[in-house]
Amino acid sequence: MTQFKTIDDLDVSGKRVLIRVDLNVPMKDGHVTDSTRIDRAVPTLNELSRAGAKVVILSHFGRPKGQVNTDMSLWPVSQALANTLGRPVVFAEDCIGVAGKTAVAALGDGDIVLLENLRFHPEEEANDGNFADQLAALGDIYINDAFSCAHRAHASTEAIARRLPSAAGRLMQAELEALSKALVAPEHPVAALVGGAKISSKMEVLGHLVKQVDVMIIGGGMANTFLNAKGIDIGNSLCEHDMADAAREILKQAEIAGCEIMLPNDARVAREFKAGADCDTVKLDAVASDQMILDIGPDSVDALSAKLSECKTLLWNGPLGAFEIEPFDYGTNAVAQHAARLTKEGSLLSVAGGGDTVAALINAGTDKDFTYISTAGGAFLEWLEGKVLPGVKALEDNA
Ligand code: 3PG
Ligand code: MG
Repeated sequence: MTQFKTIDDLDVSGKRVLIRVDLNVPMKDGHVTDSTRIDRAVPTLNELSRAGAKVVILSHFGRPKGQVNTDMSLWPVSQALANTLGRPVVFAEDCIGVAGKTAVAALGDGDIVLLENLRFHPEEEANDGNFADQLAALGDIYINDAFSCAHRAHASTEAIARRLPSAAGRLMQAELEALSKALVAPEHPVAALVGGAKISSKMEVLGHLVKQVDVMIIGGGMANTFLNAKGIDIGNSLCEHDMADAAREILKQAEIAGCEIMLPNDARVAREFKAGADCDTVKLDAVASDQMILDIGPDSVDALSAKLSECKTLLWNGPLGAFEIEPFDYGTNAVAQHAARLTKEGSLLSVAGGGDTVAALINAGTDKDFTYISTAGGAFLEWLEGKVLPGVKALEDNA
């Protein structure tokens, strides 16, 4: 387990506490469409406020590329946050300069201010020291509660932690604890389930994980690339033909490491990729040349479920099929529901995260039943690749 300070190590009462949160939430027409990141940020904010801190929230929103862009203002998010907190949140129209200073100077103990989008300044993403100095001047203490931004070496996640007494917030702590239970010091056997469309985006994840886990379940579009690399005719399925060598290399590394690879042995196939398309279930030696594999079949579901019943730990990233479209959510749903059942029975520790994963688990009705679901997309993947996350490293160095 990584070593960093937590809120328990700091006296925040009466202090100006700068807290980096990830309020980069999905929005449509000015309304938050998924409040998960807000909901998960609230406990730390409440704790700090109750302890009498002057709470100064730092966040980015979207990718405005260093320009002021009113479409990416955090103002609507400040309203959603205030609603969830059930108390006012002051909004400052710039994170530095007069607006930032004035808003922070006016705070009483326990008050909360959200500063405007950090990425309106190009210096944020440049991890600029002078910009970090200006942010740091607004606080006495820095807390990073944005694990989902920890893969970015930005001024508000990296340079600032080198300028103030720093600690991890409760969400950061919980994310790192859950991930470490799943991969750093897990109970064996450990299974990793990696799905999604493209192997090219997950090469490093697969390469790292086969050395860490006992079983690697490969699903989604990228399973096709592996099947193709093994000489199986996958018909008209999505496949990265130029990744065949890379796939064979992963299989070789897995063999050396003693990691069992599980690929589907049957599939749900169709001639068109659309909701309600005519679909067949076939064995993998019987995919017709005009058919596409869009999901795993029932034999694969049974085999994966039986394997998970033998495992103690599961790390899940990515769907097993085209879960956005019925009936191709069948495999993802069935395996997720089995994992959720094992988790509820207490025989499996299940941790999931990254990109589409949360949406797939919500679709399966299982998001509440996993042991832990990460709020992170890219940071979760980089962590699975075994990379050092600059935001976490800066906290460790500060400790
Ligand atoms: C995310 O949504 O992945 C985080 O908020 C980081 O955003 P970014 O990918 O634009 O750096
Ligand atoms: Mg991202």
